[in-house]
Amino acid sequence: MLSAKMKKALNKQINFEFYSSYLYLAMSADFASKNLDGFAAWMQHQAQEEWGHGMKIYKYINDRGEKVKLDGIDTPPAEWASVLEAFEASYKHEQEVTKRIGDLMKLAQDESDFASAAFLQWFITEQVEEEDNVSSIVEKLKMVGESPQGLFMLDRTVAQRAS
Ligand code: FEO
Repeated sequence: MLSAKMKKALNKQINFEFYSSYLYLAMSADFASKNLDGFAAWMQHQAQEEWGHGMKIYKYINDRGEKVKLDGIDTPPAEWASVLEAFEASYKHEQEVTKRIGDLMKLAQDESDFASAAFLQWFITEQVEEEDNVSSIVEKLKMVGESPQGLFMLDRTVAQRAS
């Protein structure tokens, strides 16, 4: 059994993870429309991971004997001015995810909900990797700057992660 507050907060996080999936799929669509197939594949891979994060929480709520409540998913933006701008937006988004996971962990601790705290630990660790993955691409994009050749090479490199 979960407290009503924890159940509501976890349901909200499912929605945010699914929104993350939608956001990254929108970035993938934008990259694909600009023939940036490597970045498109990377973001599609990321979108699938986010869907998996949402489903992990979905399963946890079920496992605790509670019912999941699904809300509508917000419409993500459709276009970014540059690859760098999209990845910077992604990095900012991941920082927000980290903050929300931290708030959930704090709630679990405040309620002495040890099962939820143990469950959320996976997400705390995962966010370190999530932020690192995106920030390292942001840094590389800054190095490449306006160079089309550099962007082309980077597009090929990031494609490898998604294959
Ligand atoms: Fe599910 Fe990228 O955080």
